[in-house]
Amino acid sequence: KSYIGYDDKGYLWCEELKVVDVLKNVGTSPFFLYSKAQLESNFQAYVEATKGMDAIIGYAIKANNNLNLLRILANRGSGAVLVSGGELLLAEKAGFDLQKTVLNGNGKTMEEISLAVTKGCLINVDSEFDLEHIIQASRQVGRKARVLIRINPDIDPQVHPYVSTGLANSKFGIRNTHLEWFLNRIKQESSFLDLVGVHCHLGSTIKQVKIFKDAATIMLEFVSIIRNAGFHHLQFLNIGGGLGIDYERQGDVIPTPEELVASIRDKVKEAKLTLIIEPGRSIAGNTGVLISRVIGVKSNGNKEFIVIDGSMSEVIRPSLYDAFHWIGLIAPSSGELSKFDVVGPICESADFLGKDRMLPRPEEGSGIVVMDAGAYCYAMASNYNMRPKPAEILVDGKQWKCIRRRETFEDMLMLYDQK
Ligand code: LLP
Repeated sequence: KSYIGYDDKGYLWCEELKVVDVLKNVGTSPFFLYSKAQLESNFQAYVEATKGMDAIIGYAIKANNNLNLLRILANRGSGAVLVSGGELLLAEKAGFDLQKTVLNGNGKTMEEISLAVTKGCLINVDSEFDLEHIIQASRQVGRKARVLIRINPDIDPQVHPYVSTGLANSKFGIRNTHLEWFLNRIKQESSFLDLVGVHCHLGSTIKQVKIFKDAATIMLEFVSIIRNAGFHHLQFLNIGGGLGIDYERQGDVIPTPEELVASIRDKVKEAKLTLIIEPGRSIAGNTGVLISRVIGVKSNGNKEFIVIDGSMSEVIRPSLYDAFHWIGLIAPSSGELSKFDVVGPICESADFLGKDRMLPRPEEGSGIVVMDAGAYCYAMASNYNMRPKPAEILVDGKQWKCIRRRETFEDMLMLYDQK
């Protein structure tokens, strides 16, 4: 179900609020607008999908780290996937059960690892040096580290190379031919390490269930090898995140969490494993949109541009990955349809939100929506061009509230040595 969408007159709604009214009341733009019901319903889809099996749904905090949204997920029993000490501290603050969190990363620092060992997080082993660092940290902390080995299954997720992570030439995970070395080393240090599982993550924006199914099959072979090597209690199969969402808004083209989990459920249960799944985008992505205002419309002879106050500093995905986000007006318009590039005010040609979009010619000041901006948008926002990071607004039924205020010039100034 979709909680952000148009009525038949052409007004955009977020739950029970007309977005034009929210824009009027918020005052400043651009801002991110989120639907609480959408977030809950996306999480619930994973809960339903994993019913009847042992599972941890580890929301990938990197996708959207708004503390308010994190609290909603933590309250519903979500686990979390962390990629830095900052995310770990934030997860703790949001109230996640840290036993259900996984620290991941190819370049964890000693401080981050020590923190994770102290707090009892699961830790993914990414390389030889990473394993040595984990051993050192657990020695220092005086507590056993619970580790999973991140194995590179060498599967092509058929997505943009920048969001592909499980191929043999990826910087993540261990070479699967090198597993024995890791098992021996972990055995030697068994007073500091508890090997509890295996992990893989193939990539992001994945559109076929078969890719997860193939990965699970390969990973289960590694589970057998590891158990046969004496680690009989290996408990977790972590298949990572990566399920795509329908950015193109074409309808049922993306598998549901239910379909994803159903494709591996029997095998995982048979192997008496607890499944860990790490969704980010498929929980947060369609939960939020970017609302901007039109600054003006111009033509350069060849092309027409809608210039909005939103930009690549709020939504960098089109510039960085050539990603598509659906763009529209937030209210009906009688303007004639024409082909536009929708661009921001940043001094750089890469600053576009969408190219060659058929849209009604908008009035200055009218509202524009960039859809599906709940994941990897605010989280990747920058102050490029000295732009303050935008506000984040949460809608719950007929109510809205600001869940992160817009940055001010003073906020940015505070970081300088002003002497
Ligand atoms: N687990 C691991 C180990 C990951 O590296 C990631 C994402 C996830 C889980 C969550 O993946 P998701 O379910 O959100 O696809 N900035 C890019 C996406 C980078 C994803 C990095 N890893 C984008 O905007 O498309």
